Amino acid sequence: MIARPTRRLSPDATGLAEAGRLLRAGGLVAFPTETVYGLGADATDGRAVAGIYEAKGRPSFNPLIAHVAEIADALALGRFDQHAEDLARAFWPGPLTLVVPVAAGCPISDLARAGLDTVGLRVPDHPVAHALLQAAGRPIAGPSANLSGHVSPTDADHVLADLDGRIDAVVDAGPTEVGVESTIVACLDGVTVLLRPGGVSRAAIEAVIGRPLAVHRQEKTIAPGMLASHYAPKAGVRLDAQVVEPGEALLAFGARVPDGATVMLNLSPSGDLAEAAANLFGHLRQLDSAGAGRIAVMPIPHEGLGEAIRDRLVRAAAPR
Ligand code: TXA
Ligand code: MG
Repeated sequence: MIARPTRRLSPDATGLAEAGRLLRAGGLVAFPTETVYGLGADATDGRAVAGIYEAKGRPSFNPLIAHVAEIADALALGRFDQHAEDLARAFWPGPLTLVVPVAAGCPISDLARAGLDTVGLRVPDHPVAHALLQAAGRPIAGPSANLSGHVSPTDADHVLADLDGRIDAVVDAGPTEVGVESTIVACLDGVTVLLRPGGVSRAAIEAVIGRPLAVHRQEKTIAPGMLASHYAPKAGVRLDAQVVEPGEALLAFGARVPDGATVMLNLSPSGDLAEAAANLFGHLRQLDSAGAGRIAVMPIPHEGLGEAIRDRLVRAAAPR
C-alpha cells in the first residue's frame, strides 16, 4: 500500500474545495456526516473505491453506501418502489440508507456495490457532508472511516488514530451528532426489510410504510458484510452487566452505577439513548486506551436508538 501523508482540512471554502479536488482525482478523504465519519472516494471510479478497501483492510465482498447531496440524485441512481420513495421523502436528508435495485446506466462502480445488482444510497444530513458532496459533484462511496472491524469514528482524531498515513485527508468538523450509523432498509422485490438498526428507529420507519418491517432472514444474506464480530474494541466485552467483576472496566448507562470498576465511563447518566448513541464509540475507544482488559456493559433499553446501540454492542462482544 502506498503511504499517503494525511492532511487535516478545515470545513471552510478552501478546505472543501481541496477535498473536492482530491476526491475528483481519485483520492481518499474522510468526512463528517450526522452519524459517523465516512471514508470517501469517488464511487464511480473503481480504482478509487479499491483504495477504500485497501486503507480499511476491508473484506472486498462488503458493499459500500453511495452518498449523494440531493434526494433527486439518489432517486436517479436506483429503482425505488413506493415504500422506498416514501422513506426517502420522509427521512432524507438523514440517517437512513436505502438498498434498492440499481438503475440502468447507474455510474456507481461494480466494486462499490461488491458486484451486487443493488445499491445502497444515502443523503446525509450534515452541512459539511452536503458541501463536500456538491464540491465532488459525483456519488461518494463511504464506509465508516475506521480500520475494518474497529469501532466507528465519531471525530477526526478517531479517524486519524486508525487511518493516518493511509488516506489523503480528513475534513475536521468536530464530533458527529447521532453517533451510530444509519439505519439500513432494503426495498427489493416488493419486500421492505430492516438490514441494520441505526439512527432512524424501526418504529419511525414502520409509521411511514404503515406495516411492520419484514424480518431479515440470515440464510438469505442481503448484506454480505454483516459480520458477526464487528465494532470490536481490543478489550473483551460482557453485556447486560448488573455488577462489576474484579478487574473489569464499566461502560455504564443511567444514574445507578455499580461500584468496583477499574475505570468507569457513563454513556448517559440521565438515561438518554440519543446521548448514549453519540458517546458509544468514543467511550469504547477511551476504555480501550485506558488499558481495560474487559469491559462490562450495563443493560441498554431495547426501544428506539437502543436497538442500534445494542446491535453494535452485541457485535463488539461477539467471539473473535
Ligand atoms: O451512517 C452510515 O451509514 C455511515 C456513514 C459514513 O454514512 N456509513 C457506514 O458504512 O456505516 P459501512 O460501510 O460501515 O456500513 C454500510 C453497510 C455495510 O454493512 C454493507 O454491507 C451495507 O451497508 N450495504 C451497502 N450497500 C449494500 C447493498 N447494495 N446491499 C446490501 N447491503 C449493503
Ligand atoms: Mg463500518
